[in-house]
Amino acid sequence: MSSDAALYLDACATTPLLPQVQDAMALAQRDAWANPSSLHGFGLAASESLERARLQLGRYLGTVANAVLFCSGATESIDLALLGAAAQLQPGRLLISAVEHPAVVAAAQRLARRGWQLQRIPVDRQGRINLVALEALLEPPTRLVSVIWGQSEVGTVQPLETIGNLCRRHGVLLHSDAVQLAPHVPIHFDQLPVDLLSLTAHKLGGPRGIGCLLVRPGLELQSRLGGGAQERGLRAGTEPVVLAAGFAAALEVAQRAHTNGEAQRVERMRNRLLAELTQLDQVQLSGPDPALSPRLPHHISVMVQNRRGGWLPGRQLVRALWRQGIAASSGSACSAASGGPAASPVLQAMGFDAAQAASGLRLSLGPWLQESELGRVCLALDAAIARCGSEAPDP
Ligand SMILES: Cc1ncc(COP(=O)(O)O)c(C=O)c1O
Repeated sequence: MSSDAALYLDACATTPLLPQVQDAMALAQRDAWANPSSLHGFGLAASESLERARLQLGRYLGTVANAVLFCSGATESIDLALLGAAAQLQPGRLLISAVEHPAVVAAAQRLARRGWQLQRIPVDRQGRINLVALEALLEPPTRLVSVIWGQSEVGTVQPLETIGNLCRRHGVLLHSDAVQLAPHVPIHFDQLPVDLLSLTAHKLGGPRGIGCLLVRPGLELQSRLGGGAQERGLRAGTEPVVLAAGFAAALEVAQRAHTNGEAQRVERMRNRLLAELTQLDQVQLSGPDPALSPRLPHHISVMVQNRRGGWLPGRQLVRALWRQGIAASSGSACSAASGGPAASPVLQAMGFDAAQAASGLRLSLGPWLQESELGRVCLALDAAIARCGSEAPDP
């Protein structure tokens, strides 16, 4: 299948670079290519461009420029948030939700090896955090909490403000992975009861290789890398000025999408496609029904059966859909790429058994799509179900 004729329904994995981002990056590459630490005019131009991008990001995210720390992406941002904050605390209990991205799980496991007690906050069948359990767990020795705001695999949006207020009441630091939410919901960091927030550019039409950590002013972090004193001494390494310009341009487009109707258009397309897909007898929604509970507005996740009632492996369905020109995903992109576990730990944490947890299929939409193109998705899934049901199981 040529990717020209294909439909890209995998925005949660990454997004195509926006033309506005390409333009901003070309300009920065031309005028601000030098090292921002250099004292000559070339360096000053690079430094100005970097600080302009930081200022813009701060403005779009409802905070001051100083709160924005650039880094290579959300994985690094999460690592810096959790390990950098924990290094300033006595080891105690660290809570993470049972539905975190592997980047948070990996950072938390490192802390566990350094003497922290790692505990998962349970979730319900829709992936929503059990707030009663959370409140009970916030007693000492809990010192740090990390919660994914918009869940990448099943679309659940957590009540971050409520969670943050609970953490504040107990004097516990809160980090949130806002990677999937940031492209779709305006963020006002200074108004959120959250201490650390991780974002990445490539989920919102920006370049890969840059993200940021928003840090509540006054909060002490320990740097993870030795070397230069860039990013207020918290992230050594020559700053990616051109990528920062692209990140700022991408956020600007995302902001405008809320006022020019584009964000609402994507959500309407999602709602229609979701309604069509769940008409199929073999398809069951996973994560919240957006009519009843908050869900990422571009996100569809389902579990799929064959016509005899057995659960179909999501990875087989993804291949069968791609043969028809539809790019979708099973589970998180990271575990899929590494050939990771077939049964999704996220779906298992939500109470599904191993066979059902291996049958996850995710379709995530973006502004590059037109409603008229989506008509063939449901037919393609129906054909994929028929085809997979008659094939040998995935190895
Ligand atoms: C929810 C979530 N957190 C973190 C990451 C990691 O982001 P990055 O690729 O920028 O390291 C991803 C990307 O897959 C994600 O979806």
